[in-house]
Amino acid sequence: MKRLDTSITNALLVVCCCLPLSACSGIQSVFNPHGPNARHTAQIGWVMFIGGALIFLVVAAFAVYAVLRKPAKRGWISHRGFIIGGGIVFPLITLTALLIYDFRAARAIVAGLASPALTIEVVGEQWWWRVRYLGGSDVDESVVVDADAADKGIVISANEIHIPAGRSVTFALKSADVIHSFWVPNLAGKLDMIPGRTTKLRMQADHAGVFRGQCAEYCGGPHAKMAFYVVAHEPEEFERWLAHERTPAQPPGTRFLAEGQRLFLETSCAVCHQIRGTAARGQVGPDLTHVGNRLSIGAGILPNNTGTLAGWIASSQHLKPGNRMPSFDAFTGEELRALAAYLESLK
Ligand code: CUA
Repeated sequence: MKRLDTSITNALLVVCCCLPLSACSGIQSVFNPHGPNARHTAQIGWVMFIGGALIFLVVAAFAVYAVLRKPAKRGWISHRGFIIGGGIVFPLITLTALLIYDFRAARAIVAGLASPALTIEVVGEQWWWRVRYLGGSDVDESVVVDADAADKGIVISANEIHIPAGRSVTFALKSADVIHSFWVPNLAGKLDMIPGRTTKLRMQADHAGVFRGQCAEYCGGPHAKMAFYVVAHEPEEFERWLAHERTPAQPPGTRFLAEGQRLFLETSCAVCHQIRGTAARGQVGPDLTHVGNRLSIGAGILPNNTGTLAGWIASSQHLKPGNRMPSFDAFTGEELRALAAYLESLK
């Protein structure tokens, strides 16, 4: 029985130690930086954490000493000099040093990044991300919803952001409704998206890879379901991706897919969504021109395949309650399959 107790205790210890450590890796973690901006942030975090932990241990040791030591022997810790030294001088020096370190590190974050290779506008909406690759266009101060953006060289997408690795990118962040917060922990600190204002965040990924971002400011019911992926490519690969993203959607290649496209255009889908190259010009919801290439649907909440697409169409209110897309539960199974297959074919 005793041995069993020990092994349970050991197992609990392992679990307790591993849980916090598991947060140190992965594609959505501040402790696993993959860019200069995030590295500085992680370093500030560790310095503060280790410094705070050491001071806590020293203070706790003094508290234990004060309780356990005989009154005659512990008198020195209530001397005036010790109290002024430990209670005023020490915190003053330590906190000032940390403040200076923090300012210098924050300045290094801004100074260390090369001039940006491109500007990407991201608009937070309840509860998804409108993404526009601005090319040479200036950042407009308001939220622009423009069906003709493609004619101006602007590439429109949603809920997934592609960037060139090793290049600095500026994000122009806006909100269409309430305050959201744009956060890709592996690449940079978080920054609020404020209605009526444009905030700018520069970041860079060291190498190609996939990272996950998350809205970091409570913005209503399904706030936790407002995520996205950042895909960093080698620069030439990124240019290829951007050129492809700029092209209109492929026409359906089979009768089944053509049926899916007909359903999309003739029911209410096209009122809210745009598929460039078709009559669907809606601007309320995400642009779906190349939705088949995205890693996720529903703003980072489900993997992208025909099954999840059909499930999202039929019960989007169940998956993300309160979002602006109604659940289209009137479609038959065959119609849902055709619609989902058509969307999945939009590579
Ligand atoms: Cu958007 Cu939380």
